[in-house]
Amino acid sequence: MSGRVYNFSAGPAVLPKPVLEQARKDMVDVFGSGLSVLELSHRGKEFDRITAETLEACHGVTSIPDDYAVFWMQGGATSQCYFVPANLLPEGRTADYFQTGKWANDSIKEVPLYGNCHICGSGKDNAYRTIPTGDAVQYSKNPVYVQFTSNNTIMGTEFQSEPDAPAGSYLVCDASSNIFSKPIDISKYGLIYAGAQKNLGPAGITLLIARKSLVEEPVRPLPTMAQYCQHAKKEGRYNTPPTFGVYLMGRVMKWITDEGGLDVMEARNKARAKIVYDFLDSQDFYIPHANKICRSNMNVTFKCPTPDLDAAFVAGATAEGLRELKGHRSIGGMRASMYNAFPTEGAEALVSFMKSFALNHTNAATTR
Ligand SMILES: Cc1ncc(COP(=O)(O)O)c(C=O)c1O
Repeated sequence: MSGRVYNFSAGPAVLPKPVLEQARKDMVDVFGSGLSVLELSHRGKEFDRITAETLEACHGVTSIPDDYAVFWMQGGATSQCYFVPANLLPEGRTADYFQTGKWANDSIKEVPLYGNCHICGSGKDNAYRTIPTGDAVQYSKNPVYVQFTSNNTIMGTEFQSEPDAPAGSYLVCDASSNIFSKPIDISKYGLIYAGAQKNLGPAGITLLIARKSLVEEPVRPLPTMAQYCQHAKKEGRYNTPPTFGVYLMGRVMKWITDEGGLDVMEARNKARAKIVYDFLDSQDFYIPHANKICRSNMNVTFKCPTPDLDAAFVAGATAEGLRELKGHRSIGGMRASMYNAFPTEGAEALVSFMKSFALNHTNAATTR
């Protein structure tokens, strides 16, 4: 197939076409410098400009209070699983974690290296179909912070609003798969991190927005590279940053603003996901994974009646230019990831394929 296909990848994921086209030009000559964006010294004036523009673009997307730092790190969102407790959780103290799937569990398992971990709510018993709310949430007595994964990329669940951190604590959020997909009140958070490769840019860079007071000094001696303060103080340039990631992330954030900002992103994301959810709710061939009240607007998860049919679905969809629909290996089935840059027509094309696939395979399902 020539041309661009509908890319349902969970990440690295679809990027805005105008940004890719600008990047193609800048790949050869950025700012008329005679240099490729890939060839710039991270201490040179062109990269000073890129750093400033990326910071400006982030401030342009959402209001970030003066007492917050914006910076970036390498090592993926996964490295934040230990950077967070290493920098923020004093020995002997407790941090509360929402257990809502693999990414939360990856964080939870690192906490005991530094302090105590209290699971304040868990979806484990129902295969992470739900996000704990109300009485299902029990905070510890005096947590330092409460960490949650705002969107569970694998399960297709999303917090519909931020949890309330108990008095004296603050929120830490892994927002890797829904950052800037809807309006966000930064002042509710102590620290937000997001791997870029879903809504922000290429893999290899993680955006952090943190209350300055939290990233002034780690709570224990740490290797220099693991200290938030080094990266926050030096605009993500303590060492050589992933320069292309800094560049592209800035362009993607500017694209969000140019498109009308987070309200527009939210409206588009909701409407697009609704196309698929409305269809799922209208039929009984496919089995949705996430509970209705906490469905994600980014990742829609569902299964066919049998794993063989799942495999046939993915193969058939791929042949139609609907790519990367295979679900995560831990839950199987299908996952349609539709981030900010994903076109609405892709959701329509998916539903149309789902309808014809179900029609052609209903017998195979009922005689299984
Ligand atoms: C919510 C969430 N957190 C963390 C990660 C891990 O990110 P990385 O592979 O950049 O370490 C992912 C990856 O998909 C994710 O979706």
